[in-house]
Amino acid sequence: MTQAETGYEQRARAQAERLRQAGHATILAIESSCDETAAAVVRDGREVVSSVIASQIPLHAMYGGVVPEIASRKHVESVDPVVDEALRQAGIVLADVDALAVTYGPGLVGALLIGVSAAKALAYAADKPLVPVNHIEGHVSANYVAHPELTPPFVCLVASGGHSHIVRVEDYGVYTLLGQTMDDAAGEAFDKAARVLGLPYPGGPLLDKLSREGDPTALPLPHVKTPGRYDYSFSGLKTALINAVHKLRQSGRDVPAADIAASFQHAAVELLSEKAVLAATETGATTLALAGGVASNTGLRAAMEDKCRAAGLRLVMPPPILCTDNAAMIGSAAFYRLMRGEIAGLELNAEPSMRLV
Ligand code: KG4
Ligand code: ZN
Repeated sequence: MTQAETGYEQRARAQAERLRQAGHATILAIESSCDETAAAVVRDGREVVSSVIASQIPLHAMYGGVVPEIASRKHVESVDPVVDEALRQAGIVLADVDALAVTYGPGLVGALLIGVSAAKALAYAADKPLVPVNHIEGHVSANYVAHPELTPPFVCLVASGGHSHIVRVEDYGVYTLLGQTMDDAAGEAFDKAARVLGLPYPGGPLLDKLSREGDPTALPLPHVKTPGRYDYSFSGLKTALINAVHKLRQSGRDVPAADIAASFQHAAVELLSEKAVLAATETGATTLALAGGVASNTGLRAAMEDKCRAAGLRLVMPPPILCTDNAAMIGSAAFYRLMRGEIAGLELNAEPSMRLV
C-alpha cells in the first residue's frame, strides 16, 4: 500500500466519522451488477435527488439473456455519462457529495468490477469515503426510499431475476433468513415461462402484460410443495408449464398464449404471496415489504394487497421503477452502512457470489 492510499483511507475514515456524528449524508451511488448501469444521488437514505438508469436490455434481447462480456463492455461505455447525468440532474458536482457508494455483489463479476472501479476512482479523486453495498440489501432498501416512515423490524420478500428470499429485517443491515428458493429464482421462472410462449428476454414484464388478457384457470398447474415452510421452488412449476403446453400442441388443441401466461402468473403469484404472508404472520411481523424486479408484477402486487388486508398486515412496496435494478436503492442502503461506520478501502473487490445472510 502506498503512502497516498494510506492518507486517503485515514481521511475517509475521519470524514465517515464526522458524517456519522452529524447523521446526514448526500451519497452518489453506482449500480452495475447485471444489465443496468445506474447512478443516483440520495440524501439521508430516504430522499432521491436524482436517479439515472441506462438499460442494456435491447442489447441482450437478441441473445435471449444477458451476455456477461457484452454487459461489461456496455457498463464501461455507460458508467461515466450515467454518473455525470446523475450529478447534473441533482444540480451538484462531485465535490458536493459526502460519500460514494457501489454495489460490490452479488452479480456478474465483470459487470460488478466496472462499477466498483469507477466508484473507487471517484472516491479517491474526490477524497470521500466509499461505502460497499450488497445488491440484495439494496433491493430491500428501495422500500426506505418509497416509504420514508418505514423502519425495521419488518418481513421482506425479495423476488428478483437472481434471488428469491423471505427475510426478517431485524434492524438496518441485520437480516434473518426465513426462506429462500430451492432452485430457480422467481424472475428466472417468469423469464423461462415467457420463453416457452416465444416472448423476448426478459419475458417477466411481457408475460405480466399478456396475462391481463387471459384466463388464469385455463391451464391447471400444480400447487408446488417444498420441504421448508417458507421456502420456494419454481422449477416444478416451470416443467409443468412446459409439459402442459407441449401436450396441448401435440393434441392439436390451441390454447391462447394469454391464457397460458395468466395461468402461470396466477400459480407463481399464489406461491410467492402465500408463503410471504405466512412467514410474516407466523413470525409476528406487522409489516410485509416487497422488493426486487418481480415485485413490479401487477398480479403479485394485487394478490399481496388482498392477502395482507385479510391477514391484518401492513403492506409496503416500492413503485415499479424502484423494484427493478436502480442506484437509488443502493444510495439508501449505503446511508445506513455509513451511519454504522462501514466503509471500504481501495482494495475493495467484486464479490459475485455474496449472500445477504
Ligand atoms: O431485480 P431485477 O431488476 O434484477 C435482478 O437483481 O435480478 O429483476 C429482474 C427480474 C427479471 O427476471 C424480470 O423478468 C423480472 O425481474 N420482472 C418481472 C416483472 N418485471 C421484472 N417479472 C414478472 N412480472 C413483472 N412485471
Ligand atoms: Zn436486482
